[in-house]
Amino acid sequence: MHYLVTGHTGFKGAWLVQLLHAHGHQVSGLALDPAPGALYERARVGELMEQDLRVDIRDGAATAAALRQVSPDVVVHLAAQPLVRESFRDPRTTWETNVNGTFNVLDAVAATPSVRAQLIITTDKVYRNVNQIWGYRETEPLGGVDPYSASKAAADLLTQSWIATSGCEVPTAIARAGNVVGGGDVCPERLMVDLVAAFSAGQDVHLRYPHAVRPWQHVLDCLAGYLALVDALLEGRLAGEAFNFGPGTGSFVEVGTVARTVARLWQTTAGVVVDEAPALHEAGLLALDARKAELALGWHDRLDFEATMAWTVEWARRAHDGADARELCTEQIAAFAATGGGKAGR
Ligand SMILES: NC(=O)c1ccc[n+]([C@@H]2O[C@H](COP(=O)([O-])OP(=O)(O)OC[C@H]3O[C@@H](n4cnc5c(N)ncnc54)[C@H](O)[C@@H]3O)[C@@H](O)[C@H]2O)c1
Repeated sequence: MHYLVTGHTGFKGAWLVQLLHAHGHQVSGLALDPAPGALYERARVGELMEQDLRVDIRDGAATAAALRQVSPDVVVHLAAQPLVRESFRDPRTTWETNVNGTFNVLDAVAATPSVRAQLIITTDKVYRNVNQIWGYRETEPLGGVDPYSASKAAADLLTQSWIATSGCEVPTAIARAGNVVGGGDVCPERLMVDLVAAFSAGQDVHLRYPHAVRPWQHVLDCLAGYLALVDALLEGRLAGEAFNFGPGTGSFVEVGTVARTVARLWQTTAGVVVDEAPALHEAGLLALDARKAELALGWHDRLDFEATMAWTVEWARRAHDGADARELCTEQIAAFAATGGGKAGR
């Protein structure tokens, strides 16, 4: 099977290419250049790929030409401007990438006869946040205040409209997941990235929202859900549906607890410091109810909170000590597969 991953130079994309490659699939990608120090470069992800294209999804013609050139069987659309704070700084690029870019991918797929399934990745932040303490279900209203959340909710609605009205016959589904962590993330403004950077340098870490509760999921658990949904589409099931892929309530943990857990696992003497009140709006708890994925796909998280943190810290510490990033990913992909008694994707 030939997969095209948009956003393969990013964090989830770099793991996904390696995971698909480990399953014996051909993988191509389209994205912008990787960020400095990105996992894509550290793990030499480009070496695993059939076609490794630099295409801006805001450019519809270029996106369509890339799809034609690759002619994949499956498209997984991850490419996005995925940061809340960046979306305040640059709302235009956020909206254009997340909405127009998604339109261009959907449109390009419709014009590419080889495609047998496509998965559009949105986020837990698509739900209208009413500060409920139980998880959101797929049928609940979408919304979003900050430009990132609102643009992803718009991309989600756009995809639902496209499925209902475009006449495109490619089986399409939507996947919504929350905070993911794992080795090699370099996106600014993400807690785990800040923790790893601080503890690698033996420095204290500064927290903005120590009591904010977030769901924490390992990137491999999230990607396993995505691939289980793609497999269902290829089997002729579940087209047109949206699915949540969130961890169980044991992984809804305060930011301060995450910082202290990582400090303990890192065995650092560096401290955890709480900063002054935040200036920007940030959503309260957003938890996903993933029972639909459990019932329809047999998917559930395999790594609990402690294991998720331990795997992430182990990756980061060993990479910091000079271990090869590709080997670390390969090892964890194999270890993850062993937790489910088979392939990491299912
Ligand atoms: N990481 C998380 O915790 C998280 C949580 C919920 C949802 N998501 C979603 O998962 C997806 C991947 O997130 P990530 O954490 O890997 O982000 P990332 O920033 O690491 O990667 C983003 C990727 O998108 C590409 N991209 C950005 N703008 C583009 C453009 N105009 N044209 C082509 N490519 C472009 C980048 O080059 C990069 O490859 C996004 O859709 C994001 O909204 C991530």
